Amino acid sequence: MERQIAVIDFGSQYTQLIVRRIRELGYFSKLYQPEELRETGSPAAIILSGGPRSTLEEGAPDIDFDYLKSLDVPVLGVCYGMQLLNIRWGGQVKPGNSREYGPATLVPCQADTLFQGVSRESQIWMSHSDTVSALPEGAEVLARNQHDVPVAIRWTDNFFGIQFHPEVTHSEEGKTVLRNFLGLAKDPHEFRIDSFKDYLVQEIREEVGDREVVCGVSGGVDSTVLAVLLKEAGVKLNPIFVDTGLLRKDEGDEVEAQFRELGVEIRRINAGEKFMGRLAGVTDPEEKRRRIGDLFIDIFFESAGNVELLAQGTLYPDVIESATSGSIASKIKTHHNRVDRILELKAEGKVIEPLHELFKDEVRALGEAMGVPHALVHRHPFPGPGLAVRVPGEITEDKLRITREADAIFINNLRESGWYDQVWQAYAAVLPVRTVGVKGDERSYEFAISLRAVVSEDAMTASWVELPYELLGKISNDILNKVPGVNRVLYDISTKPPASIEWE
Ligand code: XMP
Repeated sequence: MERQIAVIDFGSQYTQLIVRRIRELGYFSKLYQPEELRETGSPAAIILSGGPRSTLEEGAPDIDFDYLKSLDVPVLGVCYGMQLLNIRWGGQVKPGNSREYGPATLVPCQADTLFQGVSRESQIWMSHSDTVSALPEGAEVLARNQHDVPVAIRWTDNFFGIQFHPEVTHSEEGKTVLRNFLGLAKDPHEFRIDSFKDYLVQEIREEVGDREVVCGVSGGVDSTVLAVLLKEAGVKLNPIFVDTGLLRKDEGDEVEAQFRELGVEIRRINAGEKFMGRLAGVTDPEEKRRRIGDLFIDIFFESAGNVELLAQGTLYPDVIESATSGSIASKIKTHHNRVDRILELKAEGKVIEPLHELFKDEVRALGEAMGVPHALVHRHPFPGPGLAVRVPGEITEDKLRITREADAIFINNLRESGWYDQVWQAYAAVLPVRTVGVKGDERSYEFAISLRAVVSEDAMTASWVELPYELLGKISNDILNKVPGVNRVLYDISTKPPASIEWE
């Protein structure tokens, strides 16, 4: 892609966030490794990211500086990028005693170029250990921090460096600094979601050729957008929908109908009985997940046959998570994708992840640009193991029926009252306990339902939603009157942490 803002990745955790901010500011941006500099073609501007290494280390990542200069476009070095540029321009960097991490104060020395419209003092976010100790001749300090240390430098009319992360929201004026830098870019390509779709489609065509692409669809946002994108690219597509029998009420049929409307012909594998067989008598949550994950992968690959190419709807946050964290969520996802089988395919160059540069809201925008209905694009998340994690203890057909019915009533009420879109995730779970009640004139001994509605940014933390009592009352009445086998409804008021969003 010509005239993009090329971001060179020196390994910072935040690099993709730079790309995202650039897109938010309306410019097309793409990520490259340092050794791919020549592949940037004629970029409109270049940003060198931060990174975990020290420029003083043996074998530290470097850049072809002569080539970079020859491009004659604005260049911004961020943290590691700034130190590298300072050295290349003839200045010096010295090791710091410890890593400086956290907030500092930005004090611009002047109000032009990068700092146009930036406040006299604002918070910036630093994360570095080395510091610039000497500037080359002709370099100018554009801003300092509260300790008078230079945090922004201009070496030439085209070359700038900043010792803070403009891409994180903790840097209060970071976006303005980025906007100012991008204002210097030479004839940049505008970012619009529809032209971005064309770009993705083109990339997919080139990568796939005439190979058949297998992908798993679940009805969720990511896999749906992926399948529609692959269809738009006109590749030979084999979308497989494994119906685990652990889906919500009517969900399997709805997923089929949804894809029919989108013009994608999916293959539905009804595997409910197999899953119930594998889960019989199992109560341990981890064991349930392991069994579901293994069986899912077995059925998926059995149905796929000989895989020429596998497409996965991995998003950028999943990429970071699986690369850097040992969290439960990543373990679960890893497990669900059964690393070994997927890694083998990856090693053979048989996996594509066309959405890997995108964040969730961007995937939603992409979906809407391709005509995926709003309601689908803004659906609440649903866990891979399905209702299994909402039926704590042993799973039975009867408990699944109860959860489905209660959940449908809950969700319908949220939709009708306008609460659905204000809630991040909501569901009903059936508890593994029966309680005494009175129905008609008779004693009843039936299950208790727990309702949960949370708001969250990224699922790492969550708060329960203060639904109106009146609405909760109506939902409770509906469930108690319409779902046989239930005589008690509870509302879950636990935050995460210490609770999790799901029951298991
Ligand atoms: P927890 O219960 O860990 O859930 O607070 C956080 C978010 O992750 C979803 N979740 C899963 N998603 N596979 C998934 O794809 C899973 O095994 C899984 N477990 C939980 C959960 O619905 C919530 O949005």
